[in-house]
This record gives sequence, structure tokens and C-alpha cells, in this order.
Amino acid sequence: MIYKKNRFYIEGISSEKISKKFGTPAYCYSYKKLKENIINFKNFFKSFKPMICFSVKSNSNVNLLREINKFGLGADVVSIGELMKAQKAGINVNKIVFSGVGKTTKEINYAINKNIFLINAESKSEIIEIEKIAKTKKKIVNIGLRLNPNTNPQTLNQISTGKKENKFGVSEKTFLSLVDYIRKSNFINLKCLSVHIGSQILSHQPYEKMLRVLDRVIKKSRYRFEYIDLGGGMGISYENNLKKLNYKKYNIAIKKFLKVNKSKIIFEPGRSIIGNTGFLISKVIFIKETKSKNFIILDTGMNDLMRPALYNAKHKIIPSIKKNIFSKSKYEFVGPICETTDKFSTLTKFQKLKEKDIIIICDVGAYGISLSSNYNVRPKPVELLIKGSKIIIIKKREKLEDII
Ligand code: LLP
Repeated sequence: MIYKKNRFYIEGISSEKISKKFGTPAYCYSYKKLKENIINFKNFFKSFKPMICFSVKSNSNVNLLREINKFGLGADVVSIGELMKAQKAGINVNKIVFSGVGKTTKEINYAINKNIFLINAESKSEIIEIEKIAKTKKKIVNIGLRLNPNTNPQTLNQISTGKKENKFGVSEKTFLSLVDYIRKSNFINLKCLSVHIGSQILSHQPYEKMLRVLDRVIKKSRYRFEYIDLGGGMGISYENNLKKLNYKKYNIAIKKFLKVNKSKIIFEPGRSIIGNTGFLISKVIFIKETKSKNFIILDTGMNDLMRPALYNAKHKIIPSIKKNIFSKSKYEFVGPICETTDKFSTLTKFQKLKEKDIIIICDVGAYGISLSSNYNVRPKPVELLIKGSKIIIIKKREKLEDII
């Protein structure tokens, strides 16, 4: 991911070459980055060897899941569809955890039939439903119970999940009464306490707070949890010099927690594994000049990458070929979709662009293609995996015929 002779390269291939060969918009992933992220993640927490379940919602491309499986990771899924994709990618069911507040009877049935590692239940109704199904199958089902620790993750409101006003998990009081309920059940085995307080978290402090709440609740429950599932949420740097999560401090806090609580740890990372591996290559269709700014109209929009429109998220935009001539006017990078929120960034200092130039939107590996849609009847982009100087098509570009 560097410029060589002013051309941007993803591993051994220039973005120019990719755009010429495969057209635009194109999602590209770097295998090297993916490998590096997984190895780093394992290393951060190597002293207690956690079970790492990749959060499939962040990117559910089956071929990427296959690569992730080769590194021994499991999967965190939130629907029967994600569960089936994880299985298709070869991920063993005894490494799959199933989260989510609204699992249907069909989904619970399927998960129980497949004997997945854990169903992370999020309400009393769900526990009763699991128990009912388990009873008809004469099975004992392993579950996790998701606690809402009422902890502020200090991230965007839209991606906070661990505050008491959020729909996720159960309150401390309900948690304790449900532990007692499950204790008496013949069909449910409470194996795990799970939490997930939010996403794109850049400070270790919310995690420390969350662990203190867990400590207290576990003590009160007088229950020995074999596993503690701490969820994911580890943030990445979308903009240069943005602060970074201090993994060392998070690791120390977990080790302290484990001294008192002899449990195994599960993580469900998504973004921290796949986020910075992804690049969206796009072409400038038109440039529209106005008095206050110039609109750079791209051939990719909020249907391909929804994060800016949905969360006002900022993704770095860089030119495919670097030139040293800069624009004097403000550039607003927008898509072709008929929505005012279909814009990526407004930049004041960008190199002068012309129509048909290629640009790259960075760090789109997580919640990029997985949040994409066919809005405005637009086919989804091709997805490519770059491995050194090899380009592998991991999902073909949708054809207009497919969606009409
Ligand atoms: N576990 C659970 C139960 C989750 O709900 C999530 C994400 C994860 C794990 C993975 O979190 P991560 O490590 O990727 O932060 N669309 C938003 C993010 C939504 C996250 C939803 N839950 C975005 O584009 O920022």
C-alpha cells in the first residue's frame, strides 16, 4: 500500500492496472494486511490464548472467510445466512457463536441442529424459546447470556450497544434472575457470559469499566462461567494521526480480570481484522463546478459504501496517480445516487483531478460491501483479493441482468 513512481499499489498491483482490467467501482482486499492483522491480534492477547470468532457481519465474502478460517479463527454470526456462509467457508461449527436480539424459531432450530458452539441469548423470551426447542429435540444446548453492562463505549451513538437504553443484552438484575432460571433448566447449559459494548472503540477505558461491571455481576451470580465472550469493537485509524486503541492496556485489564475469574476468553473482532485491508477503486465521472465548491462525481456511491451517509464516517480518499498540482477550490466527493447524503468527503487540498481519473477510498474492508445495496438499481461491485502480484476474483461484478 504505497506509491511507486507516483502510482498507488496494493501489494504488487497498481490501482491503475486493476481499474483497467476489472473496471470500476472495484473492492480490493490485501491478503498481506489481513494476515498481518490476524497475527497481530493473536499476539496482543497471546498470554491467555483467546478463542477468536471473526464477526461475519463486517464482511461476509465467502472467499475471505475461507482465508480467515485458514488462520484458525471461528465466526460470530447474527443470522442463519451468516451461519451458512461461515459453514460454507469451512469454519467448524464448534467455533461458531450466534449473537443477535431477534433470532427466529427457524434460526434457533438450525443452530441447535448443527450443534454450534454457543447461542448468545439476549432476552428471557429467547431463553424460553431455546429451552422449548431443546426439549422437543431432547438436547442440552450450550448458551451464552448477553449482559448489557450499561457502559459508555465513547464511540458514535449509532454504534453503541452497551448502554442501558440500547436494545442489546439484559440488565444486571435480569441477568441475575436468568442465571437462576437456567440453573434449574434440564435443557440449557449456561456456558458463557457475553458482552459487546460497541464498535470503533479507540480508548481502553470503556473496556476496563466493562470488565469491572463483569467482575461485580459474576460475583453476585455465584456462577462459574466457563467462557467470557468480550465481543469485538476494537477501533482502527480511519484518518492519519487519529488515536489508536491501546491493546497493551486492554490486555493488562483482561489479565487482571482473569486472575479472579478463571474463564476462557472469546473475542468477536470484525473491523480490526478486515477494516484496513479494503480499498474501493472508483472513477471520476464528471466534475461539476460551482461558486462555492467543485463536485467530484464518482462512479461509486452510498449504495456501495454506506458508512459516510449513515454515520458521517470519514474515509481517506487518495489519487491513483500522484501529481503535484493542487486544486485551489474545495472538492466535494459525491456519488451518483439521488440522495443528498450520498457524499464521501469535502476536501480543501486535493490534487487537481480531471474527469475519468481514478481515485481510491481507503479502509473499506469492514462494513463496506456487507452494508451495500442495489439502491437505484445499481449492480454490486466486483471484489478482488490481491496476493502479491496475483489478483483473485472473489466475487464477480453483478450484472445488470442479475438485478433487473
Ligand atoms: N459482536 C457483536 C455482538 C456485534 O454486534 C459486533 C458489531 C461485533 C461483534 C463486531 O464489532 P467490530 O469488531 O467490527 O467493531 N456498521 C457499523 C458497525 C456496526 C457494528 C455492529 N456490531 C460501521 O460501519 O461502523
